[in-house]
Amino acid sequence: MSKIAVIPGDGTGPEVTAEAVKVVKAAASKFHFDVEFTQYPLGGTHYLETGETLSDETLEELRTYDSILLGAIGSGKVGGPEIPPGILEREILLKLRFGLDQYIGLRPVKLFPNVHTPLKDKGPADIDYTVVRENTGGLYTGIGGFTMKDTAAETAVQSMVYTRHQVERCLRFAFEYARTNGKKTRGVGEHNTLALVGKTNVLTFVFDLWERVFHELGENEYPDIKREYYHVDAVCIYMVESPQWFDVLVTGNMFGDIITDLAAVTQGGMGMAGGGNLNPDQGGVSMYEPIGGTAPAFTGKNCINPIAAILSAAMMLQHSLEQPDAAITIENAVQEVTPKLKGTGADKMGYTTTEVGDMIVEHIMNS
Ligand code: IPM
Ligand code: MG
Repeated sequence: MSKIAVIPGDGTGPEVTAEAVKVVKAAASKFHFDVEFTQYPLGGTHYLETGETLSDETLEELRTYDSILLGAIGSGKVGGPEIPPGILEREILLKLRFGLDQYIGLRPVKLFPNVHTPLKDKGPADIDYTVVRENTGGLYTGIGGFTMKDTAAETAVQSMVYTRHQVERCLRFAFEYARTNGKKTRGVGEHNTLALVGKTNVLTFVFDLWERVFHELGENEYPDIKREYYHVDAVCIYMVESPQWFDVLVTGNMFGDIITDLAAVTQGGMGMAGGGNLNPDQGGVSMYEPIGGTAPAFTGKNCINPIAAILSAAMMLQHSLEQPDAAITIENAVQEVTPKLKGTGADKMGYTTTEVGDMIVEHIMNS
C-alpha cells in the first residue's frame, strides 16, 4: 500500500489535483496496486483562515508518506485577499523542498502530438529533453540581508551558495538520468548527453565549481555520457532555435527556474508542464507538482488543463512508487488525448477539466 499526501492548494490547484488523483486511481486498478490518499489543506486560503503556513508538526507528518502530490499554492482568487509575495513560497513550497531535502527539480520538456508550440517548424521529435534543476541550494537558500535599510546607502545582498556536496549529488543524479533516460538509451539519438548550463564567464566561483565537478565525475564515472556546456543566456537562444540539440540539461536552482518556464511554453504552456521535486536517496520523500501556478482567472470554471498535474502524477508512479508500466501507460494515454484537444491553454481545450481527465482514464482502462 502506497501512502500519498495530497496538497491540492489554491486556485485551480484542487481542480487539476482531483484529475491527477482520478488518473492514479485508474492506473492502480488497472495495474493492481494499492494507493491511499490523505488530503492536507495547506495553502493561501488555509493560511488566511488559520495563520498556519506549514507547521513543523505537519512537515514531520509528511515525512511518513511515500510521496506527495501538490496542486498549486498562492492567493488563488481574482480580487481575493492579497498575501505579500514570498510568504507562501518560502514558508510552504520552499520549506517542503528544503525540509524534505528534495534536491532535484526534474522537469521533462516534451511536446505531445498535435500540441501547438510557438516554435516555428518544430515538432515532437525536436522538443524532447529534460531539465535537471538543482532544487535546494544557490540563490534560494535565503542567505543574505540588508544594511542601512531605508537609507540612501542601503545595501542588499543575496548570496549564491553552493557546496561541493550539493553540486556533486545533483550532477551524479543528472549523469545517472542521462544514462537511463538519455536519447541513446531511448533509441532516438546517437549519444546519451548531459549538458551543464551555467555562467562560467561571470560567476567564476560557483560555476567553476560546477564545471570542475562536472568534468571530474564525467571522466571518472560516466565516460559513456557525452558532455556539453552552455552559458545560460545562450541556452535560451538554442531552446528556441534548436531544441533538438538537447538531451539532459543540468543547472543551478535559479537558472533552472527561469529556463523551465521558457521550456514550458515551447511544450504547449503551463498546462502541459509537469515536474517533480525529488529526494532520490533511500527513504527520501519526493513531491510532484505541475510547474504552473494557481491561475486565479480560471478558478472554479472547470476549464483548466489538468495534463501537467496528470503527467506529474505519472512521474510519481515512475520515481517514487515503482510502477513504471503504469507511468508509461498514463503518458501514452495523454499522447492519445492531446490530438483531440482544440488547444492546451485554459478554456481553450474544447473540453472541460473533468472531461480531459475522463478521456485519459478511459484510455488507461482500455489500454
Ligand atoms: C517553480 C516556481 C517556484 C520557484 C516559486 C513559486 C517559489 O516558480 O516551481 O518554478 O521559483 O521554484
Ligand atoms: Mg518557476
